[in-house]
Amino acid sequence: MDEWIDYYDSTHTIYVSKLHRDVHFQVIARDIIAYVSSPDAIVLDYACGEALSAGQVADACAKLYLAEPAPGVRGRLIARFAPNARIRIRSLDEVRQMAEGSVDLVVMNSVAQYMTAEELDAAFAVIRRLLKPCGRFVLGDVLQPEVGMARDVIALLRFGARHGFLRDALLGLISTALSDYRQLRTRIGLQRYREEEMLKKLTAAGFKASRAPRNIGHNPWRMTFVAHHPHP
Ligand SMILES: C[S@@+](CC[C@H](N)C(=O)[O-])C[C@H]1O[C@@H](n2cnc3c(N)ncnc32)[C@H](O)[C@@H]1O
Repeated sequence: MDEWIDYYDSTHTIYVSKLHRDVHFQVIARDIIAYVSSPDAIVLDYACGEALSAGQVADACAKLYLAEPAPGVRGRLIARFAPNARIRIRSLDEVRQMAEGSVDLVVMNSVAQYMTAEELDAAFAVIRRLLKPCGRFVLGDVLQPEVGMARDVIALLRFGARHGFLRDALLGLISTALSDYRQLRTRIGLQRYREEEMLKKLTAAGFKASRAPRNIGHNPWRMTFVAHHPHP
């Protein structure tokens, strides 16, 4: 769904303040690092967004590929991380060209909801090809059909209260209600999956998968899955 990519390429207001944006990426980086199995690991963050704390992830592994479809975001990633020899920026087309079995950990966080079911299957096929035999694929922040927007609101308010941006979160919710995000969310919607549905989809893509005990990021009502090649 290219409209979501264009949205993320625009000067959007998905983060209610600079503090929200900073804390968001710190929490995501912390959670990604927990999945890095060794300092030698090659890590791919698929549709990484602004990835403000990617430097911390790079410190925990040997090489971090930041892949992002939105060209403007990619430009900022290149500018921000050019001095970091452990970080490389890639388009999704370039990711498709990467060598088979070359990545230890692929993370795709808070992206599946913006893709059509077919786009997600195509991404799974690419990721499966890239993963080393012992590699892991972590698919985070997947929305469930029966969990409505109220839970997103509660999760954001709790996150804001915990990290000192509750007032901005409240103001942000009002502006989000009037924003392009809300209009797009209403018009094209977000893809949602039941736990069994996503497990089936990952199995059909050739992975062995299970749901992780906790989600990546701040929203406990969304799901994270951990997948790998099935071992004989
Ligand atoms: C909510 S952001 C998540 C960014 C980051 N992974 C994180 O956890 O903060 C959604 C990301 O999905 C990307 N995206 C949107 N639609 C997409 C699509 N159809 N295919 C691939 N990526 C897409 C956007 O460019 C954006 O980087």
